[in-house]
Amino acid sequence: MTQSQKTPKAALIILVILCLSQAPRLPKAGETIHGHKFFIGFGGKGANQCIQAARLGVQTAMICKVGKDFFGNNYIQNFKDNEVLTGKKEEFCVTCQTAGENAIVIVAGANMLLGKEELQKALPAIRRAKVLLCQLEINPQTSLLALQMAREHKVKTIFNPAPAISDLDLNFYTCSDVFCCNESEAELLTGCSVADVEDAHRAAQELRKRGCSAVIITLGSQGCVVLKAQESKSIHVPATAVTAVDTTGAGDSFIGALAFYMADQPSMPLEEMARRANQVAGVSVQAVGTQTSFPSKQNLPAELF
Ligand SMILES: Nc1ncnc2c1ncn2[C@@H]1O[C@H](COP(=O)(O)OP(=O)(O)O)[C@@H](O)[C@H]1O
Ligand SMILES: *[C@@H]1O[C@H](CO)[C@@H](O)[C@H](O)[C@H]1NC(C)=O
Repeated sequence: MTQSQKTPKAALIILVILCLSQAPRLPKAGETIHGHKFFIGFGGKGANQCIQAARLGVQTAMICKVGKDFFGNNYIQNFKDNEVLTGKKEEFCVTCQTAGENAIVIVAGANMLLGKEELQKALPAIRRAKVLLCQLEINPQTSLLALQMAREHKVKTIFNPAPAISDLDLNFYTCSDVFCCNESEAELLTGCSVADVEDAHRAAQELRKRGCSAVIITLGSQGCVVLKAQESKSIHVPATAVTAVDTTGAGDSFIGALAFYMADQPSMPLEEMARRANQVAGVSVQAVGTQTSFPSKQNLPAELF
């Protein structure tokens, strides 16, 4: 059988739709643009953060919902390829069983359908984890419930309010051990411009007033600002200068790395975790792509571990 007979046409069209391209325009279905590279993306902030954490060497699980289709199967396969636990696939829901020490559970979703019942099914995984990381890509009430479940079981929480909403429920703050966002999210949440390090120091104070334990605001090439629990002054943690070629997903690389350090070395000072996460994310901006640019443990200096 020749290759063309084996490959159904429909699958090819789906691949084209999924492509994240670096070409000046997206290809039409079935069209090939010569001379450019194409990537198949398995994105979503949660997925990206999950992959980055896993590549640094911590056991990671993802709670999310995917379709029982080509997209869903590939999405799951990508986690498997990156050694992320995906557990038993029940209908559309993927819950995860974590077994080891130092696990991270990441709650994210391909859609808004992940609800209370699925989260309850994932409780065994959540309560065994060291860290739970949530974004706002799923129904906000589900994210909040996940954070509350983690808190109840003394699991450390990281909340990444992305994509940001201006009227964020205050319970998100009180359930966050580390509230981590970028400049534009900080700006939307505080209603004040966040354009430089000084602004970020102010915004961090404002966010912490709302009830979280610690705040990190990432600042692109400027690194980040860290406001630790129970400390009055925030710290600027600069990034090392690098030649950035593609900063897409830098924030996800940073947060994935932060989650890794919180799970792997929980007693490390938060500003040191942030310094190391800056370095991991700094590597990711030197290559094209999102997950494709995220470094693994073996590609990073030993002193980061
Ligand atoms: N140009 C850059 N040079 C060095 N590090 C960078 C650069 N851009 C991003 N980073 C790193 O990635 C982190 C997240 O970047 P940022 O742009 O704030 O996030 P987002 O992807 O959410 O916009 C920064 O805190 C920094 O560690
Ligand atoms: C912050 O992250 C959001 C995604 O949540 C992105 O759209 C935005 O461009 C980022 N802002 C900056 C300043 O990088």
